[in-house]
Formats: sequence, C-alpha cells, structure tokens
Amino acid sequence: MDKFVVRGGNPLLGTVRISGAKNAALPAMAAALLTDEPVILENIPQVRDIETERKLLTAMGAEVELGYGRAQHRTTICCRDLVKPEASYELVKTMRASTLVLGPLVARMGEARVSLPGGCAIGARPVNLHLLGLEKLGAQITQEHGYIQARATRLKGARVVFETITVTGTEDVLMAATLADGETVLENCAREPEVVDLAALLNKMGAQIEGAGTPTMRIRGVEKLHGARHRIIPDRIEAGTFLLAGALTGGDLMVTACEPQHLHALLQKLEECGVKVRVNGESVRVMGDGPLRCTDVVTQEYPGFPTDMQAQFMALTTQAEGASVVTENIFENRFMHALELVRMGANIKIEGSRAVVRGRTSLSGAAVQASDLRASASLVLAALVADGETIIDRVYHIDRGYERIEEKLRGVGAQIRRIGELLPRRTTAMAS
Ligand code: EPU
Repeated sequence: MDKFVVRGGNPLLGTVRISGAKNAALPAMAAALLTDEPVILENIPQVRDIETERKLLTAMGAEVELGYGRAQHRTTICCRDLVKPEASYELVKTMRASTLVLGPLVARMGEARVSLPGGCAIGARPVNLHLLGLEKLGAQITQEHGYIQARATRLKGARVVFETITVTGTEDVLMAATLADGETVLENCAREPEVVDLAALLNKMGAQIEGAGTPTMRIRGVEKLHGARHRIIPDRIEAGTFLLAGALTGGDLMVTACEPQHLHALLQKLEECGVKVRVNGESVRVMGDGPLRCTDVVTQEYPGFPTDMQAQFMALTTQAEGASVVTENIFENRFMHALELVRMGANIKIEGSRAVVRGRTSLSGAAVQASDLRASASLVLAALVADGETIIDRVYHIDRGYERIEEKLRGVGAQIRRIGELLPRRTTAMAS
C-alpha cells in the first residue's frame, strides 16, 4: 500500500491547475447507459473512482475508451450492446457511487441488479431515497442476497418529494425520469453544481429537464436519448483543498481552470479567517501572509459550506488564533481525521456533531492513517505545516479522488513523496 512522506514548513507558491470534478464525471459516465449512441466526456479526472466506473460499465458490455493526455483527458462510452444490467458487490463495495447505474439501467433496459452498498467510513449512507424515487416512477424493487433488483416495463412520470436532500439520489432518479412516460416533478432536489452539470449533459442528449440548480426539477420524458459531447465542470473540492493549502502554509497560490462561483461558501470563510482572496475569471489566488483568525463552519447542502471541505478546513483551524467550532450536519461520522490531527498535536474536542478546535497549536510530524478521501486530504494539509516528517498511510483513499496530488503539490514547493507501489501514469486504457 502506498504512503505519503511529507516534510512540513514550506509555503506553497505558484500555480495549480484544477482537474475535472470526480463527482460530476461519475454520474455523467452512468448517463451514457441511457443511450445506444456514443457519449464523449472531456475533462475527466485521472483518479481511481473513474477507473472503477470504467470497470463497472465494461462488465455490462459497454465499450469504454479512456484516454489521458497532456492536453486532454477524455472518455468515449458506447452502451449499444449491453449484456448484463448488473453492478456487482466487488465493484460497489469499492465505490458507493456505483449505485448511480440503477436509475439509467431500469429506465433503458427495464431491469437492474445492483449490490447494496452497505455502511461507509463517514456514515450509514442508506440508498432508500433512490429506491423510493424509482418506485414512484413505477419500478418494482425487491432486495435479496445483498442485491437490489429493479424492474419496469416503462417507467411513468410522477411527483417525487425527497425527504432529505440527496446528491446521488437526485441524480439517479433524474436520469431514470428522462426516459419515463410523461412528466416527472422532483422536489427538494440537491442543487449541487454536479447535479446541474448532469442535467446539462442529459439535455444535450435530448432530455427535457427544467429547473436544475433549484429545489424543483421538471422532466418531460422522451422515447429515446442520443449521443452527445460534454465537458465536465472543474472539481470545486480539489480547488478548495489547494486554496486551503496555500492559506494554511502562509503561501501565495493561484488555482486556475476552476469555477470561483462554485467556491463561494469557502472563499467567504477564508476571508473571515483573514486570508486575502482574489478572483479573476477562472482563477482564484490566496495570500496567507497574515495571522489566521478562528472561524466557525457548519456544513450544509449547496450552496452552503460543503461537507467535502470540512476535514480540510479543520486542518486550517488548528493554526488559527482562538477557538473554531466545526459542525458536521450531513454525515454522522465524519470526524475520523480529527483523531489523527490530535495525534499530530491539534487540540480538538468532539461533542456530537460539533468539533471545537483550539488553534495555534504547533503540529508535529507523526505516522497517521487516512480513513476516507477527504480525511486523507486533511492530513496532507496538516503535514504541510507540521514540524518534521509525517507519514500518511492508506493513501489509496486520496487516489480515489485527487489527480496526482503529490505532483501538483511538489510543483508549488511542497516536500511530499510517495513510497510503495506507484500508480501507472499517462497511460491510455482501452476496454470493450
Ligand atoms: N441519505 C439517506 N438516504 C438516501 C440517500 C442519502 O438518508 O437514500 C442521507 C445520507 O446518509 C446523508 C445525506 O442523506 O446523511 C446526504 O447524502 P447524499 O445522498 O447527498 O450523499 P451521496 O450522494 O452519497 C455525494 C458525494 C459525496 C458528498 C455528498 C454530500 C458523489 C459521488 N458523492 O454523496 O462525496 O459528500 O454527496 O455532498 O457525488 C466525496 O467526494 O468525498 C464524497 C463523499
């Protein structure tokens, strides 16, 4: 298993280019199941979850070309001859977002068999709302032997009200509704940029969706969808992680090829902390030359402060003057990184869904363990300001969602190296 060895103390200086959003690319790849024509997706990030999704689609008989180059990361997916509408336990257990194939498969093939994902390091994360939504559209759903079985001759438009806001739940039911007979109204939808990006792709494929980015979406079902070409939005969580790294290390860092509007909640918090933030077109520059001030954050659905930035923000608060309160409202168990930060010298007390961080403690390098994707990023940030060397184990979590993070960090002055088995770089994977 790979590890990162990080030596802290260097301010990050320079420019980092942001990759495409993993959480937009995954549903976009699943959307290709809705048509027998090729779907071309550009700005695909080179991360492990994309590779898992490629395996998932090829196991069903899809042709997936995935090419990573200096200028372009692109995939072409053709789901003309699907043979097996199934997502196996082997793949779903490594990536919960595999459940995104459920809606498209039942809509296009009339059946789907998808492993139940089970619990996860950050919370129970049930998929009941995906299933309730699909049932409203007329799918018959049964569960046995750890699998969800869904069947329908043709889905029928309906009104679906999500009891809780769910990102992939909204995406799953949205995809199914595009091929349903008649109109579907989805209420209490997720408004995340990744949902809006999926709706934009589906509309290019011939779907009729209105209201993406608002709580209510209206979908007029169509008989058939066709192929399309689409560019995936920039990864707002990767961008935010680098901005925090720049601010935390007292650096001067510019992130480019990002969408500053998607970063609004984070940029506001950075300014509250005393960080200078400059937005210019698709770039954001942070200058962390003054002292950091404590700030409270509460995670919320978009446009609120993202849960996917909470762990990294907590790393910043360990270096801010005074006490910051970090409240996690989306997942019930997303403080695993706090315990590792404490091992590095942070002063953090967990009280239910709140973490109270008393800042300006000096951190010292230690052997720590990553428990999930964003927790790993938080440990990397802490290591960048820790005294001495930090060894971060289980970096396969970070490889799921950050493209070449250690190379990008080294490019702006961080001392970080990977030890252990290396990932293949700049390869072209072809599968059919
Ligand atoms: N929930 C239910 N029932 C459901 C679905 C969700 O109770 O059927 C609950 C969850 O347990 C959670 C809340 O609703 O408490 C919100 O979960 P949501 O469904 O929105 O999460 P998700 O769709 O599974 C996506 C991202 C996550 C991100 C969350 C929240 C993808 C592939 N994943 O997950 O990203 O944290 O939305 O914004 O889009 C990550 O990238 O590190 C990551 C975990």
